[in-house]
Amino acid sequence: MTLQSKPAWAGDDFLSRCVNLLIQTKPIYAVMKQQARQVLIKTAEQNGIPWRKQVEELMNSGIQQQAATLTNQTVSYPNYYQVPFHAYDQGNLCWEAAFEAEPATYAMALRVWKDEPLTWEAAQDRLRGSFHQVLTQQIQAPVKDILDIGCSVGISTLALHRFYADQNASVCTVGLDLSPYMLTVAQHRDRNREISQWIHGNAEATGLRDRSFDLVTIQFVLHELPRQAAIAIFQEAFRLLRSGGSCAIVDNNPKSPVIQNLPPVLFTLMKSTEPWSDDYYTFNVEEAMQSVGFEQISTVASDPRHRTIIGRKP
Ligand SMILES: C[S@@+](CC[C@H](N)C(=O)[O-])C[C@H]1O[C@@H](n2cnc3c(N)ncnc32)[C@H](O)[C@@H]1O
Repeated sequence: MTLQSKPAWAGDDFLSRCVNLLIQTKPIYAVMKQQARQVLIKTAEQNGIPWRKQVEELMNSGIQQQAATLTNQTVSYPNYYQVPFHAYDQGNLCWEAAFEAEPATYAMALRVWKDEPLTWEAAQDRLRGSFHQVLTQQIQAPVKDILDIGCSVGISTLALHRFYADQNASVCTVGLDLSPYMLTVAQHRDRNREISQWIHGNAEATGLRDRSFDLVTIQFVLHELPRQAAIAIFQEAFRLLRSGGSCAIVDNNPKSPVIQNLPPVLFTLMKSTEPWSDDYYTFNVEEAMQSVGFEQISTVASDPRHRTIIGRKP
């Protein structure tokens, strides 16, 4: 079997255009969206993820009032961000998305090893562990200051922080996201205040100091971005890193046979709920990183569905 650089369901291929047409047919899409949601929640709960229980707990926790203190009123939302995502009409800018992000993240990890009898906790540990293992293999310079871009509800941030804090207790980790809703949940989940700061900001222009981090991570964010935004974020990461620091990305692997052979129902749903998919699956990430100045770029298939790309600032 020849390995394609991207799935046939993405980009400008005939199959991709057919799928896009189907998605743009509003009544069909509305039904698909509802059904997909029900299947997602049901499957997650069958696998032990307490989806509705977690959502209800957050809904009754009163944390909604804390959003104001986290919100930076000067932040403006780019157009690409203000579109429906993951079947939420307000995308990442609503409580429903923030309250469901944790169970949805656990369900995502289970799908990576769907033929293995893993618990959702074990799948989540394995997902994060496979990324951390590549970081260990590729990064030799000391890591003290870390920025997790697109931190969402903080699952990636806390796992990364604990991984490095186990080796060096003085590690400082910051999580940054454009959604104050996600950040409110992240701060709530960070019960022991392990994370130095949860920052509301646009990763394209964070306002943070030049050369203040050793490691910038972008975990499962790129597939939600149009290409120009991704390039702007690489430029910003480059500015924020110290010389010798690394930018590490983990996301869907367009070359993965699992991704390329997704059943039509799944890739149609994926494309319909992630509006920048075509851009992501046809994007040469390594070339873009190189164009902003990163060197020694390496790409590793870190698990059956995802790849980790690391670039170093000279
Ligand atoms: C799929 S979630 C990331 C999940 C998380 N990093 C993890 O690994 O569990 C993508 C996140 O990126 C954030 N995001 C998207 N565009 C952004 C931008 N321009 N600046 C900051 N955050 C952004 C979204 O708000 C969302 O919370």
